[in-house]
Amino acid sequence: MASRDDMKLSILIRGATLIDGTKRPRVDADVGIDGDQIVFIGDASRLTADRVIDASGKILAPGFIDSHTHDDAALLLDPLMLAKVSQGVTSVVTGNCGVSTAPLADHAPRPMPLSLIASRELHGGASFPDFAGYLGALERSPASVNVIPMVGHTTLRVSAMDALDREARPDEVRAMQALLSEAMDAGAVGLSTGTYYPPAAAATTREIVEVCRPLAEKGGIYVTHMRDEADRCVESIEETLEIGRALGVPVVISHHKLAREQNFGRSLVTLPLIEAAMKCQCVGLDCYPYDASSTMLHQDEARLKGRVRIASSGSHPELVGHELADIAASWGVSLAEASKRLQPASAIYFSMDEADVQRILAFEQTMIGSDGLPSSEKPHPRLWGTFSRVLGRYCRELNLFPLETAIWKMTGLTARTFGIGRRGTIEVGNYADLVVFDAQTVGDRATYENPAQPSAGIETVIVNGEVTFARGVHIGRRAGRVLTRTR
Ligand code: ZN
Ligand code: CU
Repeated sequence: MASRDDMKLSILIRGATLIDGTKRPRVDADVGIDGDQIVFIGDASRLTADRVIDASGKILAPGFIDSHTHDDAALLLDPLMLAKVSQGVTSVVTGNCGVSTAPLADHAPRPMPLSLIASRELHGGASFPDFAGYLGALERSPASVNVIPMVGHTTLRVSAMDALDREARPDEVRAMQALLSEAMDAGAVGLSTGTYYPPAAAATTREIVEVCRPLAEKGGIYVTHMRDEADRCVESIEETLEIGRALGVPVVISHHKLAREQNFGRSLVTLPLIEAAMKCQCVGLDCYPYDASSTMLHQDEARLKGRVRIASSGSHPELVGHELADIAASWGVSLAEASKRLQPASAIYFSMDEADVQRILAFEQTMIGSDGLPSSEKPHPRLWGTFSRVLGRYCRELNLFPLETAIWKMTGLTARTFGIGRRGTIEVGNYADLVVFDAQTVGDRATYENPAQPSAGIETVIVNGEVTFARGVHIGRRAGRVLTRTR
């Protein structure tokens, strides 16, 4: 074994204040990297390295893991992933809200919201009929961040069913199980549903449990954009818990929120419900730090109440950034009719209570996930600003939680929830996914008006031991890998 003095280091990060992703209090330490791994933590005053990064006065943390993304296609189309790297993210979980780019049959329709990540215009029309093909493409053309891939239930439905407005028949369930099994064998960590959305709204609890059998067999996680995040939120949480218990698998409630004014304050009910369930089964949740949501532009009047701002529109790109109510008024039509004319489109919905957002963020077990939509022309600012906003606004300015807790919610907790070993914490032998940032200045700059803005205060981002972002600039490295469950 090498003595400390002749230890070989490719990178030495000197003088940092280390927050290791476990919630342990910060310590001053140097961190040494060799190849793709952390090999030294301590006082490195007698060590040298090929490259030395001075991090004095700065925080060194595990690279952030974005627990909720729609980056499936962006990873291949825009592999530098600047929106993520520039806020300190080194890994992204894909395949959320029921939609994944694979496994998608060639003939399958691509209804919203699947079309956001798998339209025929993306990938030059190419689709990935099997999951292994998608992961192979990511390995041949790596992105700048690691990928933790999931399968979308809606993607399975459009591939295996000839009509989406009903429960799946037994033969269709078997076809979906086979697709999920193949995906799990290829490396998927789990499955997500999006029963809120029309293409999966007719799926029953029974259909979901049956389709998800391979998760129980092979050890996967069940993640859900629930049927209802408004009036029937409690029933939706109960359904999610029931699915987890029926399968004996961990569940994650995606972007937990209480939408619409009559539900404001109900996180006082849902969080204790979730907390109680955690005593009997494995439950996780994530949240983004904004009080507006963003998704496809709905077409039913009821879902268009309140302030709705157009984020993208295929038919009327000139109206991006305008409010739906103004557009409808100028055309002299109903909200639903205006929405129809703007399709295919996505929108930002100002529909949440800031007190709920803060209560959910502050809930100890809540992970941070951006839910950013990279395909929008004017995306929700969460795509660029989620992690730096939690660190700047919610941790430093509003003091919702200590910095150690904020970082744990973005790293150690997330790696543990998705079963990703040797990531999410800074320990000797772990992979060197790291971020150096300035705790005094870190913050989001992305706004609703001007969303594509890199964060303040993020200095260095290292992915698998490769410096990817330095002094606020992406240096072009694409060292990301496909990560799979290790336990
Ligand atoms: Zn969602
Ligand atoms: Cu989502």
